[in-house]
Formats: sequence, C-alpha cells, structure tokens
Amino acid sequence: GKYRVVSTKPMPGTRWINLLIEQDCRVEICTQKKTILSVEDIIALIGDKCDGVIGQLTEDWGEALFSALRRAGGTAFSNMAVGYNNVDVKAANKYGVAVGNTPGVLTETTAELAASLSLSAARRIVEADEFMRAGLYDGWLPHLFVGNLLKGQTVGVIGAGRIGSAYARMMVEGFKMNLIYYDLYQSTRLEKFVTAYAEFLKSTGEKPVTWKRAASMDEVLREADVISLHPVLDKTTFHLINKETLSRMKKEAILVNCSRGPVIDEVALVEHLKENPMFRVGLDVFEDEPYMKPGLADMKNAIVVPHIASASKWTREGMATLAALNVLGKIKGYPVWSDPNRVEPFLNENVRPPA
Ligand code: GLV
Ligand code: GLV
Repeated sequence: GKYRVVSTKPMPGTRWINLLIEQDCRVEICTQKKTILSVEDIIALIGDKCDGVIGQLTEDWGEALFSALRRAGGTAFSNMAVGYNNVDVKAANKYGVAVGNTPGVLTETTAELAASLSLSAARRIVEADEFMRAGLYDGWLPHLFVGNLLKGQTVGVIGAGRIGSAYARMMVEGFKMNLIYYDLYQSTRLEKFVTAYAEFLKSTGEKPVTWKRAASMDEVLREADVISLHPVLDKTTFHLINKETLSRMKKEAILVNCSRGPVIDEVALVEHLKENPMFRVGLDVFEDEPYMKPGLADMKNAIVVPHIASASKWTREGMATLAALNVLGKIKGYPVWSDPNRVEPFLNENVRPPA
C-alpha cells in the first residue's frame, strides 16, 4: 500500500479494512492492551509517516496530535463517533488535517438505548432484576415494583437533532406519549410526524397525542414526565442540567442521558437522587468517564450503563466503515467526507464507497 492508515483501536467488521486495502492503503491497528491511549501512545503510533488516523472518543485530539500527524505527512483524521467534543477542529484546520465523524449510522441504535433506559427506569427493571436474583421474591403483591405508565404522559426532548428526533418518534408512536421538545432549530419532520400520528389516532377514535415546541428549556423541565437529553456538548450545554434546573423538574420525573456526561452536573444529580427517591435516571454517559461521581453507584433510582448507546453490531460496523471512508475520502480526494461542521443533516444513504 502506498498510504499508511492507523486505527487506534481494533474495530468491528472487516469491511472498513477491506475498503482501505483495496484503495492502496496499509492498515495498522494498535493492539495495546490498555483501554485509553495517551497522547504519547498515539504520537508513537503515528510515527514518521502516516496519511490518516481513525481515532476514538476517549482520545484527546488537540494541538499535539494534529501537529504530529502533520509532521508525518497526514491530512486526514476521523473520529469513530458522531460526537467530536474530544477533537479540537480548529487545531486540525491549523495543521491542514481534515476531520470526519460518523453520524447517521448510529441514530436509531442510540435512540433505542435512550428508549430502553426510559422504559427500564419507568418500570424499575434493574431493581426488580436485582431483587429476583437476590432470592427476595416470595410471591406476587399488588404493590411490588410499581412504576409509571408512559401512555398519556409527556416525553420531553432536549436537542431534537437526528437522535433526539428518532427517540421522540419512538416514544410518541410506541407508547402514545405527548411530546414537548426544545431545540434552537425547528424540527419540521418531527412535527409533521407527530401531527400525522395524532390524525391517525383521531381517525380510529383514540385520544390523539399532542405536541409542542417549547419556547424555553424550562418549559420542558416543568412539563415533561420523561426527559431525554440529546444536545451536542459544548460551552453552552456544559452542566445544562444542574442543581437549579433539576429543581424545576417534576419530583417523579425520569431523566435519560445518552449524549455526553458533562451535560449533567453529576454531583448535583447524586444529591437530587438522594433527596428525591421517586426521581429516576438512566445514564449511558458520565461526567468523568470511566468514573462515576461518589454515591451514584449506590442509588437505587439510577440505572447506569457504560457508554453503549451506539453498541449494536450493525451500527458499530457502520461507524468503522464510515470512519474509513472519511479518511480514504480525504487521502484520495473523493467527495465522501462527513465533515462535522456541515450544518445540514448528514444523509447516510448518500455515502457510497469510492468508485
Ligand atoms: C458516541 O458516543 C458517539 O458520539 O458516537
Ligand atoms: C446528532 O447526531 C443528533 O442527533 O443530535
């Protein structure tokens, strides 16, 4: 191969490797045992000649790495993630390195996990499972693990982009929840969907679902029974959920986060969970991964999973393929670049392997 492409982790499937090999690339996959590579580890991996790198969201892609990649002749980097808060895009631009991410292929998978956490919290599935395995079940009782009925309740979505909208559709259609969403941008597709679904329910004689776009985030916090967070992480969304915003939510609300940990002030959340035993939370991401803030792991009203929202086989293979196409696109000059700075929604259907 003429080009050297490095992947900082083994990735699922073989399609991504084959795509690169077929297009004149040598692929080098880091086999280090440690889970999170340091900047120094990655600089060593980049070495003297490297045309492109596929990296992970656990890595700090800033000045040091982009300058090292530049020195090695590299022009391409792709995160194997839709989120790119670990990437300093300005630094990449400065060193002439193009940046890609992997939207589209993880939309439904991630929304499905947010839905799973919503249901698990509403029906206390994890607590009930622990109870069962502990041998505590000694017969049916009318009050055993009573939870919330979602039907007719209101789902609140903060950030109605691809993932937030997919989640909203699942909860509205799957469970006949009313929708309130907050986003700087209007989601006309989502609004059309809910409107059409409400019409359908009416036509069958059922109570139609309702929807509204909130004028402020507070409106969502006050009115929703289940709130799911789907913003990007940046300065404006850091600790969006904090002591004060938590206090505006219903005492028995469910909060779900499959976006980025720092969107929630996790210390304030632990306090809130302690003071409000009926408040429940489902978390896929944490402020200081891989750690949890003290006390969180002891809370019965919290469900915690290790950042697995995009972890379906199809999606992870798709993410790897898209990351490879991003790097390949830049190296070979094909127009297949998934640039995270693009404003319009990325259409996965338009991605094709280079001819
Ligand atoms: C995962 O968290 C991603 O951003 O793809
Ligand atoms: C990002 O992919 C989003 O759906 O907001």
